[in-house]
Amino acid sequence: VRQTKPILLLALLSLPASATTVETLLEGYRSEGAGPFSAESGAALWRQQLPAAKGPSPRSCNNCHGDDLTRSGKHARTQKPIKPLAPAANPQRLTKAKKIEKWFKRNCKWSWGRVCTPQEKGDLLLFIQSHN
Ligand code: HEC
Repeated sequence: VRQTKPILLLALLSLPASATTVETLLEGYRSEGAGPFSAESGAALWRQQLPAAKGPSPRSCNNCHGDDLTRSGKHARTQKPIKPLAPAANPQRLTKAKKIEKWFKRNCKWSWGRVCTPQEKGDLLLFIQSHN
């Protein structure tokens, strides 16, 4: 019994920082009626290409982040490099809920011309998180 506490603590500490943030966000989306979530649906959403009326078209998350999330992307408009999105390659990713929601809002609007639904955000998070 004396041994279980340190072991539990070690298990928690060895989880990537992104795991708790993602779980918190998924919990929120579930409370909005979304779920269950799947990385496969997230992958399909990631590659989905939608036509845009003005500027670069068609558009997808790939336009800036690329298809391999363990590698750097490049902003489609400014050409600025974007650090890898996968926590496997960039441990800072998916650790801050506020930052994630801010960029979901901006990027969904740019890519698809509308905000993402809680279901889409959950699927996308699982896809990004599992990418390695
Ligand atoms: C027009 C370029 C562009 C497109 C298209 C784009 N993003 Fe991004 N994204 C960015 C930039 C710029 C940042 C913030 C810079 C950074 O953190 O490196 C970012 C950050 C993010 C983050 C924050 C991750 C974190 O924890 O730091 C998420 C999540 C994200 N994007 C998801 C998406 C998804 C999902 C799509 C498609 C719906 C998408 N992005 C399409 C440019 C883009």
